[in-house]
Amino acid sequence: MEDLLKIETEIIELRQKIILADKSYFVDSDPIMTDLEYDKLFNKLKELEEKYPQFDDKNSPTKRIGSDIDNSLPEKEHLISVLSLDKCYSINDLLDWIKKNNEKLQSNIELVVEPKIDGASVVLYYENGSLSYALTRGNGFFGNDITENIKTIRSIPLTIDYKEKLAIRGEIFIKKEDFKNFNEKYCDNMYSNPRNLASGSIRRLKSKETALFPLNIFLYEAFFIEDKINNHIDNLIFLKEMGFPINSHIGFFTNNNELFKKMPFKDAEGGTTEDIKEYIEKFSQIRNSLPYEIDGLVIKINNLEDREQLGFTQHHPRWALAYKFDAPLAQTKVLSIVTQIGRGGRATPVANLDPVELSGSTIARATLHNQDYIDSIGVNVGDWVSISKRGDVIPAVEEVLEKGELSSPYKIPQNCPSCNSVLVKDGAHLFCQSLDCSKKLLGTLQYFVSRDQMDIESLGDKTLEFLFEKGFVKKIPDIYLFDYTKLIGFEGYKDRKINKIKESIEISKNKDFKTVLSSLGLKDIGGKVSELLVDNYSDIDVIIEKASQKNIEIFTLIDGVGESIAQSIINHFTNPNVLELIQKLKEIGLNFKQYSKKEENQSNIFLSGTKWVITGSFDNFKPREKAADIIKKFGGEIMDSVSSKTTYLLCGEDAGSKLTKAQTLGVKIIKEDEFIRIIKEEKI
Ligand code: IVH
Repeated sequence: MEDLLKIETEIIELRQKIILADKSYFVDSDPIMTDLEYDKLFNKLKELEEKYPQFDDKNSPTKRIGSDIDNSLPEKEHLISVLSLDKCYSINDLLDWIKKNNEKLQSNIELVVEPKIDGASVVLYYENGSLSYALTRGNGFFGNDITENIKTIRSIPLTIDYKEKLAIRGEIFIKKEDFKNFNEKYCDNMYSNPRNLASGSIRRLKSKETALFPLNIFLYEAFFIEDKINNHIDNLIFLKEMGFPINSHIGFFTNNNELFKKMPFKDAEGGTTEDIKEYIEKFSQIRNSLPYEIDGLVIKINNLEDREQLGFTQHHPRWALAYKFDAPLAQTKVLSIVTQIGRGGRATPVANLDPVELSGSTIARATLHNQDYIDSIGVNVGDWVSISKRGDVIPAVEEVLEKGELSSPYKIPQNCPSCNSVLVKDGAHLFCQSLDCSKKLLGTLQYFVSRDQMDIESLGDKTLEFLFEKGFVKKIPDIYLFDYTKLIGFEGYKDRKINKIKESIEISKNKDFKTVLSSLGLKDIGGKVSELLVDNYSDIDVIIEKASQKNIEIFTLIDGVGESIAQSIINHFTNPNVLELIQKLKEIGLNFKQYSKKEENQSNIFLSGTKWVITGSFDNFKPREKAADIIKKFGGEIMDSVSSKTTYLLCGEDAGSKLTKAQTLGVKIIKEDEFIRIIKEEKI
């Protein structure tokens, strides 16, 4: 018979050793054993626990590796009001605040200054000496239950030597250095700052995923359900003794520094209330040298009776103030959130905002990327948010400043808002996989005609939507095959507009092979890959033949093509639908062959020997270099000014002195319509 008592004792001892090792490593940064020794103990404990499930314990360190089970992060009510902080941006405002409170309290106040950690706010609830549950801040009254995820953070003790009920507020953060790595490795660099990545990680549905991220925490406020301690510094000391990570930069400003003497915080600094200004100025300097982000300092009144006397407003305590380093980005309200389906089927949630000015433009919409990003900032309709222009281009919602009525984050619908088919998760995004989804089809058409692709300017979004909805243009070839004269009689479609559409479609047939290929919008075959394919094979038939061999090595031989792109190339160019599309477009006359300079000169030289000057503005050639490119392609030469050597003047609207000179010299003048006929028929 096994000695079960001995085994239980061994299990308990292993747990104690691991807990101590975790604290020394993650809280005190002073390891007491090597990684190898630690792993040995950990594996031994795991083995014994698996063999003797009767000794299971929800607080065992082995529970910290996370699990694969989906936890839906249900909402739960907070036991305390999780208020936010009032803020100021200038030292003078801060000094005014101190003065006002001094007057109110009629005593010399004691002030504590702490770094304002730029992370994700959480509340830990302990009961009977163990972590009972952990909630996000949510709307201050209800938060999401993230207990399982929180347990993966090794610096948070699962058990403490204090049996009464206790709520502790803290901030989860990721160090600057880790942020770069992990954002790239797991998140496609979607997060613009460590704060959002930290929030995203603690909201993962699988705690095993949370465990992947290097999450840290600082605790900064204790709320005893049983009254115990009478000042904040003693609260912090108590938390530190219980094994919680407390930020070591504590500033204590008082005229009675007895308390200061017993502070166990490494970087504690003290002084009289007069010294606060200097401390803050100094901190603004060292801010960047800290390994984690802080966005300001929090100034708090130390004495808890004083705090009680000052009380709260609906949003914040009157006994604390955030001094923020940077003025805010633009702030606005989220009016609605819609999920858009792109041409590749990707579902992208977009926030419609109350329009606001930011760096010279009005912003009314901003992307919310995907569900992970939404969860990371916790945004929903009605929230006040701050927005930025990342890299000065794409507006992004950075942070929720004030929650509206909806405490939980927005949920992307489970079905495609356009065709209602179930959205399927692939990586971090949801996709509509239906082949007939009209948003995807329309998106493909819009991409095909867009400026960097076939550049059919006359088919703007509105026109294309109209043609699509009427069923005239459903697929790419329809753009070329539809008889546009059928539009006569529809509102807004007069002869001139119809001619313009026909002309710009005709001109698009001159686009080179590389552009035609990328404009098809095949996944992974963008401008860069199209260029590589065209440079290496110069003919669609060769690409199709190579793809039919279904050997990815053929394509990975191309410098710049990896395995997954090679597989994509094979999939596309063996797909009967794609092959049929290519065949149709070939028959229509689009370029599926790249001519070498020599071949080009031989095949399309009907303008060779002609010298052209271009003047005025054109409907179909904006900028007019587009016309110049076509002339050069057919062997013509472009001149800057009209002379007796000029063969043709291509003349648009509002032409000036060049036209007069050409008329004087008797140079043949060609108008836009005629030019289009010339390039269409390839004869002059
Ligand atoms: S005290 C009732 N102390 O800042 C007072 N907050 O903008 C509770 N924060 O929601 C807040 N570091 O998430 C406090 N040392 C610190 C903090 C801190 C970061 C966060 C906290 C709060 C937000 C307010």
